[in-house]
Amino acid sequence: MKNKKTFMWLLLSLLVLTGCGSSRPVQTEEIENTESGKIVVGFSQLGAESDWRSANTESMKEAFGEDTDYSLVFNDGQQKQTNQITAIRTFIQQDVDYIVLAPVTESGWDSVLEEAKEAQIPVILVDRMVDVADRSLYQCWIGSDFELEGKKVCEWLYQYTVVHDIPSENLHIVDLQGTLGSTAQLGRSRGLNEAALEHGWDIVALRDADFTQEKGREVMTELLREYDNINVVYCENDNEAIGAIKAIEAAGYKAGADIENGEIMVLSFDGINREALSYAALGKIACIGECNPLHGPRVEAMIKALEEGRIPEKFNYVEESIFSTLTDVETVTVDDIEYTVVNPLK
Ligand code: AHR
Repeated sequence: MKNKKTFMWLLLSLLVLTGCGSSRPVQTEEIENTESGKIVVGFSQLGAESDWRSANTESMKEAFGEDTDYSLVFNDGQQKQTNQITAIRTFIQQDVDYIVLAPVTESGWDSVLEEAKEAQIPVILVDRMVDVADRSLYQCWIGSDFELEGKKVCEWLYQYTVVHDIPSENLHIVDLQGTLGSTAQLGRSRGLNEAALEHGWDIVALRDADFTQEKGREVMTELLREYDNINVVYCENDNEAIGAIKAIEAAGYKAGADIENGEIMVLSFDGINREALSYAALGKIACIGECNPLHGPRVEAMIKALEEGRIPEKFNYVEESIFSTLTDVETVTVDDIEYTVVNPLK
């Protein structure tokens, strides 16, 4: 598999730059020189919407950066699937050795992944999944169990209400969803939906906040104007949570866990963002479901295995924790597994 495609790559890059290719590939950022002997990896990152995403990009650039056996061709899809599809087609034209894809949403990948398969380029999925009829279109996947993350945070909320003797019907929750149709959104929204059905919680509204701080602020501002009973906001990532807290405070409310006394409890996911961690320290974010972005070395290990003729497991879930600086709930049990609630500042 470790073929030397430098010449082909350079030729095609020249065609791309001079606009002489048969189609119009997107510009890709060449991270490494394509020195002979290096394994060429085309990475289609979905965007730069969050601090989690930046950490993920950094991890990939480090694992495939200078002084490694790899030459990385990086493309930022700017949250648009069409850009990612064009990037993959460019990688196919460049005849890279591997394609790594962090897909923005799950559907719509069948055709382009068939093209990659026809070109005999293995595709590795990272972070989110794709929903394709034929699973042989990708080699393997590494990422988080997003539904489990959601279930853990909801179980924390449930345990909190038990400790504080808060009746289930007193919870009025809004869900600031992540990019609709992404694995992270689907899993975390499902986690909340299931818990709400089980405990009889009131889901006041679900709104798309696209995993960004600005959308989180905007959407929460609107929700606070529309509803006067919101006491829990389930933010599907930390950037949305930061935006939501800004909206809560601008509207004259207090972000905090004391919902019996008018505070609005903020729940979140990721645990990588410094500002979010400082809000957790202040009790403004009550609980964070960890989502680990450091997939670079994991993807590298998969490519190494393939180079050595070993077949990695198809689905690879990373282990994750649950964070809170509050001491009310020490452990949560989901699907018979007990997770210790960790103080992220210790
Ligand atoms: O797919 C992972 C999610 O995407 C992270 O929770 C979020 O911050 C990012 O934008």
